[in-house]
Amino acid sequence: MEVIKLDMETFMSLFSLLRPLVVFFVSFSVFHVMLCRFVGARKLSGNDYGHGPPTYPIIGCLISFYKNKTRLLDWYTELLAESVTNTIVVRRLGARRTIVTANPDNVEYILKTNFSNFPKGKPFTEILGDFLGYGIFNVDGELWLAQRKLASHAFSTNSLREFVVNTLEEEVENHLVPVLERSAETAVVVDLQELLRRVAFNMICKVSLGIDRCSLDPSLPVSPLDRAFDMASEICARRGAAPLFLIWKIKKWLGIGSERKLKDAVREVHAYVAELIEDKKKKIGTGDNEMSSNQQDLLSRMIVAGHEEEVIRDMMISFILAGRDTTSAAMTWLFWLLSCHPEIERELLKETSAMAPEKMLDFESLKKLKLLKACICESMRLYPPVAWDSKHAMEDDTLPDGTPVTAGDRVTYFPYGMGRMEALWGKDRFKFKPSRWFNYNRLGGSLKEVCPYSFPVFQAGPRVCLGKEMAFIQMKYLVASILRRFEIRPVSSNRPVFVPLLTAHMAGGLKVLVHKRDVLR
Ligand code: HEM
Ligand SMILES: *[C@@H]1O[C@H](CO)[C@@H](O)[C@H](O)[C@H]1NC(C)=O
Ligand SMILES: *[C@@H]1O[C@H](CO)[C@@H](O)[C@H](O)[C@H]1NC(C)=O
Repeated sequence: MEVIKLDMETFMSLFSLLRPLVVFFVSFSVFHVMLCRFVGARKLSGNDYGHGPPTYPIIGCLISFYKNKTRLLDWYTELLAESVTNTIVVRRLGARRTIVTANPDNVEYILKTNFSNFPKGKPFTEILGDFLGYGIFNVDGELWLAQRKLASHAFSTNSLREFVVNTLEEEVENHLVPVLERSAETAVVVDLQELLRRVAFNMICKVSLGIDRCSLDPSLPVSPLDRAFDMASEICARRGAAPLFLIWKIKKWLGIGSERKLKDAVREVHAYVAELIEDKKKKIGTGDNEMSSNQQDLLSRMIVAGHEEEVIRDMMISFILAGRDTTSAAMTWLFWLLSCHPEIERELLKETSAMAPEKMLDFESLKKLKLLKACICESMRLYPPVAWDSKHAMEDDTLPDGTPVTAGDRVTYFPYGMGRMEALWGKDRFKFKPSRWFNYNRLGGSLKEVCPYSFPVFQAGPRVCLGKEMAFIQMKYLVASILRRFEIRPVSSNRPVFVPLLTAHMAGGLKVLVHKRDVLR
């Protein structure tokens, strides 16, 4: 489509032209809803099944929604806690009927039992489609299944695990530790979240693309790929949060504003990834990719397997998005929680130091770090990197707790709220208490098997996060190597704020001072 360039004035006049349209659209939907209500003559209480926010005809829960706009996570959590089955129905003018659940039976039903009735759905894939194309993250049905099979194969090989650990070692010893040492010597404040984010970005670039581009040095800007990625994902996240769907569609159609930027950013990402694929193909063609098969990145594996270029490109983009901000957010919250719980930090230090100092962390020794695993899970229980995730019902259905689902409804499972349900975690649910992950709630025993539908931070069922194991390896390795060498002290004693976008993070990062520990124990 031709892109129309507009100056501000034409834009404003265009906007006033559009205004009657918007007014018409809104009054039409009000009329439409009224008509439906009249015909259906439904009585509205909290809502028509179980609990929910105060709901009125036509506007739904619009009023309380706007009042609670800045604290939606906690508002939903409170409402869910009040509901007998930990499930609520939210109806609001301008949004589709949404069922939010923190009930493990419902979650299992949506994510596994009747998986095929709860795809991501068009409302979701449309928002991310321009950026992610037909990548695994953004498709349903056959398109998804084919990529899932392909990628699970690549992800599950033991050699990949070794590759991940070797890559981590290189990244930590040669890049991360020097940066932290320098900041310890000069007593300069660093943003730990940004530093960990860059490490995670490098890791995912190396493991999936086989490249090394971004610098960890906080005084240097991020790589162009990282920046374009940031831009594209942020604009997509804002698309999803826009009060009126029409607005971004119009902007896209006109090729202006944020949609213009999105287009440029996506073009940049595409060109860059395409170039990498070309390079890699040449190397493989000339036998120059001298790495042995157990040191290979995902891109090489995909090319050797003979997949189409566009499929590979979209898949790589999905991987980068999935692996970029999630682990860094989880680790940042853990470091903050540890700083508030010195007694646990001491125990953890004991565990990670128990390995001889000269011993590098290999895949086997990482498996033995049980308390560390418990701490990571406990941190993600309270601050899940993906706070909520939605599906869209294909057909009418009924959830196990009796909540009726209508075709087209948004059905949201809610890890953040689930981590805070008394029914699941007991009275001390708000407390950071790693011992709850051990049998008999005692540190040092064996770890409990926790039902994935009660703790769906990685989702669960057929579409469970593909990078789950890789993420644990990465987080354990990084937290253990930082903790053994450095003391991390946040400079502010204020409680950080949890911001859920596409993925959640700590608002403003985590500013810390770094001290070297006396002995490398
Ligand atoms: C703590 C870190 C992580 C968390 C909490 C997490 C969580 C999730 C969640 C909730 C989903 C489902 C999203 C949805 O379907 O809407 C998902 C999917 C996925 N994740 Fe992760 N993730 C993490 C790290 C990673 C890493 C490091 C990778 C590596 C590349 C990765 C790769 C993927 C992929 C490829 C999918 C799509 C799977 C599919 O649709 O079949 N994740 N992850
Ligand atoms: C949030 O919504 C509830 C209804 O669920 C309402 O009573 C309350 O006033 C709202 N909170 C704020 C901060 O306005
Ligand atoms: C699953 O969903 C379909 C609609 O697609 C519905 O007819 C069926 O009753 C549901 N239940 C089970 C257990 O499959």
